[in-house]
Amino acid sequence: MQVSETEQPTVFITGGTSGLGIELTRLYLDRGCRVINTGRRPVHPLAPRRNLEYYPADFSDLERTSRAARIVCEAGMPDIVINNAGILSPARHLYSKNGLEYTFQVNFLAHLLINEIILRRNPRGHPLTTVAITSVAYRNGTRDLILPSDPEKYRPFKAYSDSKLYLTIMSRHLHERYSDPWLRFISFNPGVFRSGIYRMQKKWFGTLYSVAAPFMRTPAGVAGKLAGIIGREELVNGSVCNYRNGTDPAPETDKTAEKRFWLECYGLIEPFLDAG
Ligand SMILES: NC(=O)c1ccc[n+]([C@@H]2O[C@H](COP(=O)([O-])OP(=O)(O)OC[C@H]3O[C@@H](n4cnc5c(N)ncnc54)[C@H](OP(=O)(O)O)[C@@H]3O)[C@@H](O)[C@H]2O)c1
Repeated sequence: MQVSETEQPTVFITGGTSGLGIELTRLYLDRGCRVINTGRRPVHPLAPRRNLEYYPADFSDLERTSRAARIVCEAGMPDIVINNAGILSPARHLYSKNGLEYTFQVNFLAHLLINEIILRRNPRGHPLTTVAITSVAYRNGTRDLILPSDPEKYRPFKAYSDSKLYLTIMSRHLHERYSDPWLRFISFNPGVFRSGIYRMQKKWFGTLYSVAAPFMRTPAGVAGKLAGIIGREELVNGSVCNYRNGTDPAPETDKTAEKRFWLECYGLIEPFLDAG
């Protein structure tokens, strides 16, 4: 595995308090790594451990997200960043604290901000692997890359699919923007697994989910699979790795639409990149 000169890598996992994130945290702690987590809970659910650092931050607030990312960098640059925090879109349109559509901000934009903060501070030559946890739903994302603006047009599945498409093309975009040989950028499509992700859904969805849950993969199994992928020497930058060990190319999008999209996204995160 590409790591810095420290013995074990430092792993930064967003959404490390539940589901896939907490299992990745356990796995890397058990390997002796230093693990940094974010989540919304005031206290991390795992018993305190010497190598575990926790910085609560609600990603629906870009100022708090930025602060957490800057604290993470000051405490010691990570070698692996896993962009994992995410929600299944709420049934009704919700605004983030920054006045943006909630899923768009939590699943995608907050991660763009975090990655930019880390990449701008990453020392020259310091190996860094960045993973975006996407979903098979990215394939349903709308390729026109138009930022959500009209609450009347809100559809939960579209909001989720679009956020995962944006996260997936973020890996390719960051690779093109920071093409240094010591940086690696991939997405990971975990398939469906058992977790608490349905929390913001209606009650009937939770009931249905609990019936299907025993037949789903465990988050611990998915965490093991992802750690194996991250450990590979060869990773194709921008590609989407999946649970079955396959790799898909980054989704194709219209270049003009994508250029406009990134300009708009950077306009949104710009005030928070170096905020004091
Ligand atoms: N479960 C699946 O079948 C499935 C399938 C495909 C992709 N995924 C993706 O896998 C990733 C992990 O999901 P999971 O299933 O493990 O879900 P989960 O158990 O609900 O975990 C989600 C994590 O994200 C954090 N989070 C949620 N909203 C946040 C916010 N506003 N600000 C900051 N952190 C926030 C949560 O923190 P708190 O708990 O502290 O609130 C939690 O640590 C997600 O990106 C999801 O889209 C899941």
